[in-house]
Amino acid sequence: MFDLDQFIADLHAALTERSHQAVKEVMARAVSDPAALLRRIGDPEKPSLQVLFSAPELTALNVVWSPKQVTLPHDHRMAAIIGIYGGREDNMFWRRIPIPSTFQIEAAGGQALGTGDVTILGRDVIHSVINPLNKLSGAIHVYDGDFLAQQRSMWDPETLVEAPYDIAVVAAEAGMPLPAEHQLPSSSR
Ligand SMILES: [Fe+2]
Repeated sequence: MFDLDQFIADLHAALTERSHQAVKEVMARAVSDPAALLRRIGDPEKPSLQVLFSAPELTALNVVWSPKQVTLPHDHRMAAIIGIYGGREDNMFWRRIPIPSTFQIEAAGGQALGTGDVTILGRDVIHSVINPLNKLSGAIHVYDGDFLAQQRSMWDPETLVEAPYDIAVVAAEAGMPLPAEHQLPSSSR
């Protein structure tokens, strides 16, 4: 069985070490046995954002993407460690255009992630996430800060103009309930 408390403790230790490799190893262990992980956090049945842990120094989310979902471009302003336990998460990376004429950001590469893959995104990364599959995809997203309270940006998908991040807009676009509705029941913590 996946031990959520141990996972959070291991992440704290790895983040304290400031070692990206240590953080990656903790996440790689967590997603190496998806069946054990899902027995603890629940089988994904619909698109959702489930808060596994939230504190000023660390946030852990279980993110389930709908089939063919494409998110708005957004930033995090903290490091993100992403581990895929089912399906795919394709990243499209963006960079700011120093002197924009129309769009404020431009495409800057991509990275495909499949089940068992782990990646670390630096604090300044801007990305869109794509689930290219006709089924749900699931991943654990960990951030080295208070992600749900962080002031950050999103970019309008049509105009690519920067705006303050609004989780209500993003959740509505993604057909997801807001994360507060999807916390683990206290009895299972
Ligand atoms: Fe993101």
